[in-house]
Amino acid sequence: MRALTWQGKRNVSVETVPDPTILEADDAIIEVTSTAICGSDLHLYEVLTPFMDAGDIIGHETMGRVVEVGPESRLTPGERVVIPFPISCGRCWMCSRGLTTQCETTQVREHGTGAALFGYSRLYGSVPGGQAEYLRVPYSSVGPIRVGEELPDHRYLFLSDILPTAWQAVRYADVGPGDRLTVYGLGPVGQFAARIGLHLGAEVTAVDPVPERRALAARYGARVFDVQDDVNDEIRDATEGRGPDAVIDAVGMEAHGSPAAHFAHQALGLLPDALGRKLLETGGVDRLAALHAAVDLVRRGGTISLSGVYGGQADPMPMLSLFDKQIQLRMGQCNVTSWTEELLPLVEDPADPLGTEDLVTHRVPLEQAPEAYDMFQKKLDGCIKVVLDPVAP
Ligand SMILES: NC(=O)c1ccc[n+]([C@@H]2O[C@H](COP(=O)([O-])OP(=O)(O)OC[C@H]3O[C@@H](n4cnc5c(N)ncnc54)[C@H](O)[C@@H]3O)[C@@H](O)[C@H]2O)c1
Ligand SMILES: [Zn+2]
Ligand SMILES: [Zn+2]
Repeated sequence: MRALTWQGKRNVSVETVPDPTILEADDAIIEVTSTAICGSDLHLYEVLTPFMDAGDIIGHETMGRVVEVGPESRLTPGERVVIPFPISCGRCWMCSRGLTTQCETTQVREHGTGAALFGYSRLYGSVPGGQAEYLRVPYSSVGPIRVGEELPDHRYLFLSDILPTAWQAVRYADVGPGDRLTVYGLGPVGQFAARIGLHLGAEVTAVDPVPERRALAARYGARVFDVQDDVNDEIRDATEGRGPDAVIDAVGMEAHGSPAAHFAHQALGLLPDALGRKLLETGGVDRLAALHAAVDLVRRGGTISLSGVYGGQADPMPMLSLFDKQIQLRMGQCNVTSWTEELLPLVEDPADPLGTEDLVTHRVPLEQAPEAYDMFQKKLDGCIKVVLDPVAP
């Protein structure tokens, strides 16, 4: 089959690789009909290179049709399914509490990390990902979400990651009618977080340096701001000087405007892998501009909810402000299936209230994935979300 493979820093290519096969009794093989590029893939593209191996198949936002199942799978060939990005057993102590990203069966103990994830480096189990014609799905009786036949892929695809990620971010932010929420970062996750905040009745402000991303969020009713020195003062002014009840950081480790940490990121890409791994595992490497801005902005007693991914072990944090302002901090990979029941009716609502069909700016054949990665990373051509099409039209 054809698959998008990681080859090196900022270097991905589409290659012919062996088709996946059933390895365990509960496996299924999916023929991929849509697979998206995520902001998280950009971390593999650039920063997490010490944990990647040439030839790794990436991608974790996938849907398609079941073509083959192991003897214990509850799926049937022909079914249309969305594949959540975490791989979980559904039976362990963590899974039974809805913490599927901490699954005790698939945890990657070698690296001290949580549940295995599709296409997400050695840190998360080196499981082949979904930017390919076919995907092997372990624990196929647990994760996959069966969906109907009538609506297009774009309605359902984002149930694999960014829609529940944004939902979890807003739930963790704990905002409702009349509350004030600021979303830092208006990539695909931030767009959905802002829309969900508005949908749940919160007043939403949002910050991003890219004009077309601000324009899209403004269209849904968010008050938007460019990243500039006094942006937090402006937002505070609009909240009686107090600051919003909650701030969502949908930016993560590659925030613009963090000159000191920029060096660490450059170093990570240049060091031999073993030294790069050491730096990540022991050093402070994240670009913390958005997180530090969130700490400054949130009101006293408020909540910061992180969906942006961070990766360093010793990042400097403003403990005085966190403690003195009595800030609650919630974060983590998304426990995707915990939110499916709440999200499915919204996704299938004819009015499409969260605008699932109003996010994708580019749909391109899988063969053009390398150009698409470059475009998405550099935010060229108005790119906000890319879906790859593995099936030749
Ligand atoms: N927790 C999870 O389960 C989960 C799931 C999906 C994505 N993520 C993470 O969420 C983050 C966002 O993902 P995405 O797909 O929307 O990616 P993205 O890279 O498109 O979005 C990041 C956005 O942040 C903006 N930005 C950069 N620096 C900023 C700053 N200083 N202030 C304000 N905005 C700034 C960028 O312009 C961009 O629009 C990434 O870190 C990704 O890894 C986490
Ligand atoms: Zn993702
Ligand atoms: Zn489990």
